[in-house]
Amino acid sequence: MKKIVLISFLVLITMNLKAQIQKENDIQKKITQLLSELTIEEKVALCSGRDDWSTKPIDRLDIPWIWLSDGPHGLRRAPATNKPGYGDQLPATCFPTASALAATWDTDLIYKVGQTLGEESQAQGVNILLGPGVNIKRSVLGGRNFEYFSEDPILSGEMGAAFINGVQSQGVGTSLKHFTANNVETMRMYNNSNVDTRTLHEIYLRPFEIAVKKAQPWTVMACYNRVQGEYGTQSSYLLTDILKKNWGFKGIVVSDWFAVVDRVKAMKAGMHIEMPRVSAINNAIAVEAIHNGTLDIEVVDALVKEILTIVFKAKSLQKEGVKLAIEKDHAFARKVASEAATLLKNENDVLPITKEKYKKIAVIGEFAKDPRYQGNGSSQVKPTKLDNIIDIIKNEYGEGIEISYAQGYNLSDDHDTSLIEEAKKIAGQADVALVFSGLPLQYESEGIDRKHINMPASHNQLINEISSAQKNTIVVLTNGSAVTMPWLSNVSGVLETWLGGQAGAGGIADVLFGKVNPSGKLAETFPKRLEDTPAFFNFPGEQGDVLYGERFFVGYRYYDERKITPLFPFGYGLSYTTFEYSDLMLSSKTTTDKEGLTVSLIVKNTGKVKGKEIVQLYVSDKESTLQRPEKELKKFIKVTLEPGEEKKVSFQLDSRDFSYFDAKRNRWVAESGAYVIAAAASSRDIKLSETVQLKSTQKIPLAFDEYTFFIEYWKNEQTRALLLEIMPNWIKGIVTEGNEAEIREYQDFMVEHPLIKYPYITHGEITHEQVKALVEKCKGITYTP
Ligand code: BGC
Repeated sequence: MKKIVLISFLVLITMNLKAQIQKENDIQKKITQLLSELTIEEKVALCSGRDDWSTKPIDRLDIPWIWLSDGPHGLRRAPATNKPGYGDQLPATCFPTASALAATWDTDLIYKVGQTLGEESQAQGVNILLGPGVNIKRSVLGGRNFEYFSEDPILSGEMGAAFINGVQSQGVGTSLKHFTANNVETMRMYNNSNVDTRTLHEIYLRPFEIAVKKAQPWTVMACYNRVQGEYGTQSSYLLTDILKKNWGFKGIVVSDWFAVVDRVKAMKAGMHIEMPRVSAINNAIAVEAIHNGTLDIEVVDALVKEILTIVFKAKSLQKEGVKLAIEKDHAFARKVASEAATLLKNENDVLPITKEKYKKIAVIGEFAKDPRYQGNGSSQVKPTKLDNIIDIIKNEYGEGIEISYAQGYNLSDDHDTSLIEEAKKIAGQADVALVFSGLPLQYESEGIDRKHINMPASHNQLINEISSAQKNTIVVLTNGSAVTMPWLSNVSGVLETWLGGQAGAGGIADVLFGKVNPSGKLAETFPKRLEDTPAFFNFPGEQGDVLYGERFFVGYRYYDERKITPLFPFGYGLSYTTFEYSDLMLSSKTTTDKEGLTVSLIVKNTGKVKGKEIVQLYVSDKESTLQRPEKELKKFIKVTLEPGEEKKVSFQLDSRDFSYFDAKRNRWVAESGAYVIAAAASSRDIKLSETVQLKSTQKIPLAFDEYTFFIEYWKNEQTRALLLEIMPNWIKGIVTEGNEAEIREYQDFMVEHPLIKYPYITHGEITHEQVKALVEKCKGITYTP
């Protein structure tokens, strides 16, 4: 019986697969036909938006348009495609923003967030949701940090991939943005991200690479800024060489809104659609370029073919009659907010709040009534509902507890000391004070960077005053990115709740009152002061250039290297229970880049309540030829454990997890040597570690040229032999037989001079021709790193 069911199941899958392939073939045939019927003007028009939010239809040939809409943590769907949709957007569920989503470290949960957003997109006729944003939080000052996941490329990429897979599972596309090195809002339309190639690959391209390879977003959004001197919208290095050829991206590239400067160059680089509507001028320029032969029609045809593939796919997956599930989605948004809450301090178990511990609670802060729940800019969602903490506490947790409220400060940011006095009074009369504070909306915004990382002075003073009147003071923070906490040692508890979305208040209350055990961990380092941060000297740049001087030492990589203790490290977060790590096992003590490594360990809940632990796996290269960070996050997992329960978790490391990007050879290199594998509860809390010896099997081109130093040629057996063929006897004598003193005397020759200098040094005994010939002979030689 079982066998019959299995066979029928397999037959069904095969039939579906065949039907799918047939459908795709039919679409491709139709597109080929359309390409022969479209005029040049129509083809060019298809490569630009029709209006604010839609692609261009060609009615005469029944080519439909599709709807693109912001994004990312909820839909901002305008009432019509030609309306901007600020203020009059349709209501949709506002989920916690990306910083909060990343603090969950839970890819399954983020997949479900994506899935829900996909359903809501279907309900509102949206074909492509403009998100997620996987740009790296390079500086704490980045105005859009609330909209991005993390300072770490692996965490950002994994979150992005899960989000995309979730949305796209519903037949709705995504737009992975903003490709790439878009890390500053100041002069965002022009700034050049002056980043070296190795850093670009290891940090700023990596999250995009992960998301593209694991999730194939339907679209990628090219950034406003320039990267290594070229606009993101017109860089064939980024759009064609890397995105398409190296990573195998199958979708289309859309420009960020008004990001295109040179339309023809952009099309040649592989940029499909200029968004939003463009003036007739840009289309006319492109048509003219085709006519005068500066833009090949084949280039345009290839773009149009890929655009139509996505348009027809989107249309074929569009569902009619889907309804917004307002209540269900609101409840889910609440759950997500509770999973994101990150407990930073909990002295003497001041949290959770229970009736046994506290009879009177003072709730303080305007945010408790008028919550700050999302960021400023194009991502602003009009929520379907909006909870506030004071009502939730009263209605759901208030039975048998006396609750008082004081405003504490006002949102206009003026310093009203009478509000502080009033709040201090109720705090002194209560058993515990909850101070809701953080960053007002105007402090964090798309288009503007932060000037400092402090909370308003009124919030800081309020917290200090409250803590002098109430020993059980708990600060509940709402902010999209790191803040300083000058009052930290005076308070008993700190709960970071990020920008928790429309149901954030419920999620926060669930954590404060112990219904949910907090399990969020920081996806970004909280520094003690701005002066400690990696990009301090190079943010936001000057004269249109942003020097990425800290290179790949971004976030915890920097704090580790500089031995700076942050306020709270990357990966940190407390729980109401405790966990124990044990039995770290490597599948072998030696391995190769091809074999990789399996790492396992046991995590146990050693406390009294159910909880979730985020286990982080870091890899350190101990013997690298090039400079490398002290350690780098490679894998992570979130495990749920009942009290006393233990689980084995395992991770698979592959060649890339040991590699650096060799900019000279334009490839990833996994060097032989010792690597430390560390299982950690945060970047500063390594629980267990083991060492593995990696033997590389890679064959890497030497890439020696006339500027390579003598010593390099000397170290490699094959090149040394070639060198000896042209070296005059007196040099040979020194380097092969010479005594130590002589070698030291001639050290300049061996260490400080590239080969090109030898004709001068030897007064012509070695000729330029010989150097050139030697370089030529070295071309095919490889080495194992
Ligand atoms: C933002 C994008 C957004 C687009 C459309 C741009 O200014 O950078 O993230 O998707 O506008 O609103």
